[in-house]
Amino acid sequence: MIQEFDNKNKDIKIWINGELLHRDKAKVSVFDSVVQGGDAVWEGIRVYDRRIFCFDKHLNRLMESAKSMDFQDIPTLNYIKNAVFSTLKANDMKDETHIRLTLTRGEKITSGMNPKLNRFGCTLIVLAEWKPSIYSGKKLKLVTANIRRNSPLCLDSKIHHNNLMNNILAKIEANHAGVDDAIMLDLNGFVAETNATNIFMIKGGAVFTPFPKACLPGITRGLIIEICKNNNIQILEQDISLTELYNADEVFTTGTMGELARVIEVDKRKIENKGGVLMQLQSLFRKLTKIEGEKLAF
Ligand SMILES: Cc1ncc(COP(=O)(O)O)c(C=O)c1O
Repeated sequence: MIQEFDNKNKDIKIWINGELLHRDKAKVSVFDSVVQGGDAVWEGIRVYDRRIFCFDKHLNRLMESAKSMDFQDIPTLNYIKNAVFSTLKANDMKDETHIRLTLTRGEKITSGMNPKLNRFGCTLIVLAEWKPSIYSGKKLKLVTANIRRNSPLCLDSKIHHNNLMNNILAKIEANHAGVDDAIMLDLNGFVAETNATNIFMIKGGAVFTPFPKACLPGITRGLIIEICKNNNIQILEQDISLTELYNADEVFTTGTMGELARVIEVDKRKIENKGGVLMQLQSLFRKLTKIEGEKLAF
């Protein structure tokens, strides 16, 4: 799924360490840790109808990622919240907005990987863009990537970090296969997630998703689990093999960027898409986006 440039974003202002700068002027130093080693953590957050959806959950995950990476001088929650509110206000964004919130380990005194070279505190970037759900109404085709999703043996997928190389390599495999995204397996050959989203399947009215061992425990994934529990829909976290996925009644992906998106093909096997549970989940999710979230004050 290729996103296009939206002219509405041509003059947006971006927050970098306390300054709101036009997109042409918004830059980080070449000595910043994100340039030196992808040493940063991030969140993708959505604004629906004057509300920042699941704001606290995203901020909590950002803070836990930063703590796990042993960042020092992490800005306070209040500071980060204020940065996000100020950025939205400066751009008059109240709906159909996607925020890419990035916290890097900060600038180094010289190039290198050692965190001891970081003496200036973290760099906070708030990039808010006009961006409705990227998969809205789209039907996705997937292939299985050769590259595996990180296990906690290598790099814990519970850290939402900017070191996205293995996901990017998987996405390149999807591009070369001419499909939308790639499924990444865990080290045991079970489905983990796609290069950018969590994955679910439905069979006989029950909903299944992989354990969060080698996938990001997505905020949207968590909401779907909650929605199922609150609406008497059976939900199970379990190991899922490709054979099970190929023969599912319905398959869908979840994520802040693209919400709940139907999958119609995996490795050239058509997913039958029968049963109607996904439509029910999409409608329950849509209802949640209308009421959940922290209100904007402008
Ligand atoms: C690898 C990966 N999986 C899943 C997700 C979906 O997570 P969320 O629902 O929190 O947006 C993301 C989002 O950034 C991601 O990068």
